Formats: sequence, structure tokens, C-alpha cells
Amino acid sequence: MTDAADSLPVRRLSDWDAAELQTLIDDYGSPLYVLDLERVRQNYRRLAAAFSNAEILYAVKANALGAVLETLHGEGAGLECASAGEVQRALEAGASGSEVHYTAVNPPAQDLDWVVGAWADHPELTVTAGSEDTIDRLEARGYDGRLCLRVNPGIGAGHHEKVQTGAAAKFGVPAERAVDVLRDAADRGFDVVGIHAHVGSGVSSDQLDAHREFVARMGELAREVSEAIDGDGLEFVDVGGGFGVPYREDEEPLDLESVAEATREALGEVDAWLTIEPGRYFVADAGVLLTEVNTVKEARDTVVAGVDAGMTTLIRPAMYDAYHPIRNLTADAEGAGSSAAEGRETVPQTVAGPICESGDVFCADRELPASERGDILAIGNAGAYGYEMANQYNSRPRPASVVLEGGEVRLSRRRETVDDVTRAEREARTE
Ligand code: LLP
Repeated sequence: MTDAADSLPVRRLSDWDAAELQTLIDDYGSPLYVLDLERVRQNYRRLAAAFSNAEILYAVKANALGAVLETLHGEGAGLECASAGEVQRALEAGASGSEVHYTAVNPPAQDLDWVVGAWADHPELTVTAGSEDTIDRLEARGYDGRLCLRVNPGIGAGHHEKVQTGAAAKFGVPAERAVDVLRDAADRGFDVVGIHAHVGSGVSSDQLDAHREFVARMGELAREVSEAIDGDGLEFVDVGGGFGVPYREDEEPLDLESVAEATREALGEVDAWLTIEPGRYFVADAGVLLTEVNTVKEARDTVVAGVDAGMTTLIRPAMYDAYHPIRNLTADAEGAGSSAAEGRETVPQTVAGPICESGDVFCADRELPASERGDILAIGNAGAYGYEMANQYNSRPRPASVVLEGGEVRLSRRRETVDDVTRAEREARTE
């Protein structure tokens, strides 16, 4: 890849090579997730250049595929994990304890047991607790290692109310209680290393003011905590992830330099690292979901293009009314070399999956080239929270996924079968 391609702040769905994607469907079937690891790397490098003095942790929840973790860890990222399972995957991907942060949100006992067990072998790992209760439960398990406190700053932002965490009661200790909680934890022997908050996910440029205010509060709190606690002071201030990406074709990408500058300025003088933990930013535009049209139907007010992927494959449109770009690769291939006038007519279409819920649509009444049965559609920006949130509702096996790297294609997850869906049930019967 050239430096010019590296620096492109966004890869649009139209930038993907239609013929190459068509070959992948021919070889691996539909539906299919495709992830370009080179693009993941480019996204990391661009963000790391803008935040040159920050510690960067990848929020594993956006896409926990081993190849993604290895790629980002290889670039220098640490890994922020939301569960014991993610910690396990992070360690398996080669991260050392000091590169792993476990963010415990109402942690199930099994998660705490597992992580405290792993801590024995990886004493440098960091646990981020979001309540006093969690600190007590860690202490009860003999944990007195690196502790970070998640605070609730009372400011949220993000692309949808369901992902605006900063003011949600569920997350973190109210910031005004943080000093007391941390002083107490330090007195009890924990190695207090940081404070953390995550304002929300998919924060756009027009929410920069909320971001500024949030980071300023974190800076203030860091200064208060450092004064109040004896010892080495804080090692880092973690302001979470949330870097938005453009899903709509006409949306501009974030101006990373301005975000980085605003962050530094708002944080002010603190004697600690700035830590950030982006997820979506690294992987969103590195992934597409391919799906085949199996039904075309004239409905009363729209044309329905029925496809073999659904809300079980990519839940974001159903769950957050999220917009994802859609492209008809087959129509594009026909149109290649001929004038636009010879291409297919464009008609408003509702692209719908096979699940028995009216919310199972990828778009409603969107202008797209008239679909025909057998066409392959590409759904863009599917690399973040795509496969990761896929499920088996309606006894629908999850799709296959492939990764692209250095001109090679590799199957990264085989397609599931109904046998996979029913395995746990069958095994329970035979026990
Ligand atoms: N750090 C913490 C503690 C988080 O909870 C999250 C995301 C991140 C970092 C990374 O946020 P990002 O940079 O990816 O915005 N399923 C939703 C997004 C949920 C995000 C949850 N937390 C979606 O598809 O939009």
C-alpha cells in the first residue's frame, strides 16, 4: 500500500473492488463477512500518528477476531477487554499482562475468578472497576494488583441513546465519589494506577463540545486524585473510545488532528499518560458484509429485495436504526464499461432479511439499482460490531468470514451449521 492510501481517512463502500468481492462469494458462499487487515493497520497508524503521545488500547468488543487482535497488537496497541473471554483471547493473541485492561461491568463471578486466576501468571494486568462492590469482590479473591476506577462523569455522547454511556447510571462510580473510593482502595493495598470513563460510542465532530467538557472533567479529577492519594500518583487517565466513523456516503470523516488537539487541551496538565481505547475506528470501514438477493417482490409502497443475511448477521440497523451503505455488486459489474444510461434503473427498495420480525431490514425505500434474484449486495462499514453481535436467532447459523492480507484471502471463521446451533442442547441430553 502506498503512503497516499495509508493517509486516506475513510474507505467508502464504492472503493472496494466489486470483481474481487464477487470472487469471494463464489468461493466461500453467502452471506460472508470480509475484513481487510491492511485497512485495519492503516486506520491504526493514522490514529496513532494523531495521538502520538497517548497509550492506545483497542476495544476488543468491536471485533474480537484473532487476526484483528494480532494485527493491532503487532502495531503496538494494548487491548481493552469487556469480559474474561476477551481477556483470554487477548492473551492468546500474544498480548502481555501489561498490555491488557479488563473493564469489569457488573462482572459475573466466573469472570472475576478467571481474571484473578490469570493475574497470578500476568501480574501486570489492569482491572478497571466500575463500582465499590466490584473492588470488594476483587479483594475477596485476593486481588491487590493494578486497579483503575471507572467513573461516571455525567456527560454522554454517541450515535444513539443506547450507546451513550457517560451519564448512564449503569456505568462507573459517580465522579464526585471517586477520590474517596480510590483513597480507600489505596489504603486497602490496591495498586491504584488510573481513572477511566467512556463517554459513548460513535461520537461525531459535531459532538466535540461534549467530548471537550468530558475530557476536562477527567483532567480535573486526575489532578484531585493525584493530590489526595499518597504514593506514585496516577499512571494514566483513560478517556475511553467512541471515535465516530462516517456511515453515510456524504458524511465527513473525523478530523483526528482537531480531536487530538481538543483532547490534549481539555485534559490540561496532568502527570499521567493519556490513554484512549477506540474500537470502531480501527475496524469499521475495513469490513463489508456480502449477501445474496433471493426474492424480489413488489409490495404496496415499495419494492422488497429479500436477502440471505438478516438482523442475526448484522443487528445494527434493527437495534439502533443505524445506516449502512449498500451497493449492488452485480449491477455495478454489468455497468462497468458501459455508460450509466445503459446500467440498471434505480428504484426505491427495502432490503430485508429472512428473520420473522418487521425490524429485520437493512434499509427502507432506499434508491438502489433494481435488484434481481441472484444479485450480490455489499453492506458497508460492517467491520465493527458486525460479526461480533451476530447470533443464532431463528436457528440461523452464523456466516463465514474471511480476511484479506498481502493479496491473500484466508478463511477466518468457517460458516456455522445447524449442528453448531444445536450442539449444546444435544450434549446436555447425552450427559
Ligand atoms: N471502551 C469502553 C469501555 C467501551 O464500552 C467501548 C464501547 C469502547 C471503549 C469502544 O467504543 P468505540 O470506539 O467502538 O465507539 N454495539 C454498538 C457500540 C457499543 C459500544 C460499547 N462500548 C454499535 O454497534 O454501535
